[in-house]
Amino acid sequence: MRRLFPAAMLAAVLALPVAAQAQGSLNLYCSAQVEWCQAAANAFQRDTGIRVSMSQKGSGEVLAQIRAEAQNPRGDVWFGGTGDPHLQAAEDNLTAEYRSAMLDQLTDWAQRQARDSRYRTVGIYAGALGFGYNTELLARRNIAPPTSWADLLDARFRNEIQMADPRSSGTAYVMIATIVQLMGEDPAFEYLRNLHRNINAYPRSGTAPIKAVARGETGMSISFVHDAVTERLGGFPVASAIPSEGTGYEIGSMSIIRGARNERQARRFYDWALTPAAQALGAENKQFQTPSNRATPIPPEAPPIAQIRLIDYNFAKYGTSAERRRLIERWEREVNSLPR
Ligand code: F6P
Repeated sequence: MRRLFPAAMLAAVLALPVAAQAQGSLNLYCSAQVEWCQAAANAFQRDTGIRVSMSQKGSGEVLAQIRAEAQNPRGDVWFGGTGDPHLQAAEDNLTAEYRSAMLDQLTDWAQRQARDSRYRTVGIYAGALGFGYNTELLARRNIAPPTSWADLLDARFRNEIQMADPRSSGTAYVMIATIVQLMGEDPAFEYLRNLHRNINAYPRSGTAPIKAVARGETGMSISFVHDAVTERLGGFPVASAIPSEGTGYEIGSMSIIRGARNERQARRFYDWALTPAAQALGAENKQFQTPSNRATPIPPEAPPIAQIRLIDYNFAKYGTSAERRRLIERWEREVNSLPR
């Protein structure tokens, strides 16, 4: 067996196209939905001959993984996921500075993300937070759809709401940071404690709650509204709403991991991922964030973020490691530990 293994490896290497052997490989950590991650990996491999191995995880999980691997990095690029953990990785020197020649082609919000991180991350898409709900299930139970953050505390939503776990999910962290910015910290935690009574589960992934809504396992979710569009187009009875008090948003981001073994390939992926053709893969795979290259067509299905009442999300503050740690610890202590 020991003698066969190298021969089998050699055969596998010989079977690779010549271009792929010469171009090397790339380890991609991806926090967008898996369909988009896989499509990006395949298209980049096809366009460049660079072999891609991809693994998909939530934004908080990739941040923890990169931190754990800092002395011996195994990933090269982190593509997608909410912006705050990318800023935290930048602050903690876990990601590398890179000024792509593509930056000029990007929207102001995407370039601001790059500047704020001293060019250790960049915006690749934006999306607003809101509610998703199952129209048939709510109608059947005679529950009026939610229109405001205040509505979510109503007894009609008892045991009917899902949001993700902020330790693993960037979406859930955006929700907590949004409530803190809208209400002030102590009233926000009072709100989260009251909301806890109406929550039936805090799953690991940010998109798990809207998928549960689509399957009719829960009446509503706290989700990015573009993810509700994906489920609706998948044929499920899903609608979305923007909270009337205003809402937070994400600047989905991309970073090169510091000490990446395949740095040349990582930079090539980074430049490629900022092109309109690569960004169009999102909509082609039913992902409806607003893309960051000004020349990428905004899919007609994308929620119109310019018309949504967004808060002036303080990325500088809520993108710091200390703030994230503090808010998540407070949530564990004061909210998640309570009985429901
Ligand atoms: O891919 C869908 C999406 O909602 C992205 O817009 C977002 O960046 C990501 O999921 C966040 O995932 P999570 O909450 O699991 O970190």
